[in-house]
Amino acid sequence: MYRTRTCGELRLTNVGERVTLAGWVQSVHNLGALTFVDLRDRYGITQLAFTEDASEELRQKAGKLGREYVLQATGVVAERYSKNKNIPTGEIEILVEELNILNESAIPPFTIEENSDGGDDLRMKYRYLDLRRPVVRQNLELRHKFAFEVRRYLDEQGFLEIETPVLVNSTPEGARDFVVPSRMNPGQFYALPQSPQTLKQLLMVAGMDRYFQIVKCFRDEDLRADRQPEFTQIDCEMSFVEQEDILQMFEGMSRHLFKVIKGIDIPALPRMTWADAMKNYGSDKPDTRFGMEFVELKNNQPDNASREIVESIFPDGFGVFDGAVYIGAICAEGQAVYTRKQIDQLTDFVKRPQIGAKGLVYARVEEDGNVKSSVDKFYTQETLQVLKQKMNAKPGDLILILSGDDAMKVRKQLCELRLEMGSRMGLRDKNKFSCLWVIDFPMYEWSDEEQRLMAMHHPFTSPKPEDIPLLDTDPASVRANAYDMVINGVEVGGGSIRIHDAKTQQKIFEILGFTPEQAQQKFGFLMNAFKFGAPPHGGLAYGLDRFVSLFAGLDSIRDCIAFPKNNSGRDVMLDAPGFLEQAQLDELNLQVVPQE
Ligand code: AMO
Repeated sequence: MYRTRTCGELRLTNVGERVTLAGWVQSVHNLGALTFVDLRDRYGITQLAFTEDASEELRQKAGKLGREYVLQATGVVAERYSKNKNIPTGEIEILVEELNILNESAIPPFTIEENSDGGDDLRMKYRYLDLRRPVVRQNLELRHKFAFEVRRYLDEQGFLEIETPVLVNSTPEGARDFVVPSRMNPGQFYALPQSPQTLKQLLMVAGMDRYFQIVKCFRDEDLRADRQPEFTQIDCEMSFVEQEDILQMFEGMSRHLFKVIKGIDIPALPRMTWADAMKNYGSDKPDTRFGMEFVELKNNQPDNASREIVESIFPDGFGVFDGAVYIGAICAEGQAVYTRKQIDQLTDFVKRPQIGAKGLVYARVEEDGNVKSSVDKFYTQETLQVLKQKMNAKPGDLILILSGDDAMKVRKQLCELRLEMGSRMGLRDKNKFSCLWVIDFPMYEWSDEEQRLMAMHHPFTSPKPEDIPLLDTDPASVRANAYDMVINGVEVGGGSIRIHDAKTQQKIFEILGFTPEQAQQKFGFLMNAFKFGAPPHGGLAYGLDRFVSLFAGLDSIRDCIAFPKNNSGRDVMLDAPGFLEQAQLDELNLQVVPQE
């Protein structure tokens, strides 16, 4: 037996027991007559003591130990003289009698401690060492527990976990596919699934009724903190359900996860329409941990987010506002203390190319109620008082205003500004959770790139029955039976009620610009299946990585993935992707054109 106990479990009650532990050397403290070694395994750290009573041979061996050596030590549990209250095993130590060096270790390239001195790249290259750090390990433990509780909940609700293939053909989720050449079918390629969307729908046709799968999905898209090229979904589908059934079922799952993993009772999830989310927060995934909702000061451009025209509160005088189609503002409570320099920083922030605002107008409400603004010379105090009233601003508040000629663009800019202010004001506490459903998404969004309407969710989403007549007259305003679950400004999951008759599906493909032949070629398998008695069905998928990172309070989903890719999609540890040998290319009928 390599060990009788782990490094995390011994306490004062074990004093006097003879035990064997195995693990890695965290640190060695040589105090002359005494040597202390902190031994680490997945479960914790236990102090090994080599005292004057130990044999000369043993003490010499202890003197040779280096960081990350792998040891097996046998000895008696003793009460420690100077106790460490910071760790659960801090009251005891092992008086070592036998020591076996199981393996030596090269000097690790960074310190394997709570706060490592290793930079990101180095830690990723030696990810297996990074994973020895308790902080990273705990994220994986949390992920395991999370997935386990998902399975427990869904199993109790009668869901079957069914695996779907990884070598498939293109599934349209709006990203590029990763493809795999087929040796046996020269010139042909599999695509890796962006999600098992069509397969889970076929499982419903097959009568499986309730399906789920914790499944890898692959998307070749630009990477960000919350996106990986391969990520994990909790993918679910149900038959004979309406939107309400799905929302209830998965609200239940979220409640279960919050309760058993975080010990938090979350309230019933509020529901916000997509239109309200866009109008009031400029985002379909609003961070509702704080208010600071938008106030429209002018809107000449009725759209899916807001059908109302709002007359400008500003009389003509300031060219930028006069010419704007939309003016929107937020009120940052108590922030009138912002200095000129801080305002300039905010202005630079919104003018960054990623955000793209032309400028920022501000107004401070002073202690006497007067309003002082960056556009004082264009407006009377009466106009500024109207602004104050509209914004519901109090003395001490700071009003921030953006404008432009495209309402949706300005809303998105204002969204970034609101989030920035929320962060600066400490309103985005990672230990506070605000969950909601965003519902009634539009069916389509216009793509400038493709110059056509694209499915906002995916082409299998059903329109709201009451909006079906609009499919012929005004498709851009049709709403879908689609929903997202949003937590703290993160889209953790999303889904929809599906189309289940071939005719409607055909029509939707038409609106998306597929000819009947193209639709048949790409999705014939699904439309054919629908001819054989497809039940009404719907579902959703959660991003497991995103959900777990929220629970762990992480800034990036990478930290809860054992072996993640970097921002260029590389695995720096495996050095993947890599080149293939010519022979392998030949076998696959592939020709590589050398890059300049
Ligand atoms: P969707 O594309 O919204 O829906 O994806 C579902 C959830 O998966 C997560 N997610 C990602 N997580 C990490 N990295 C990525 N690159 C990434 N892309 C998506 C998000 C998202 O909410 N088939 C539909 C679901 C359905 O309709 O049932 C789908 O895949 O958290």
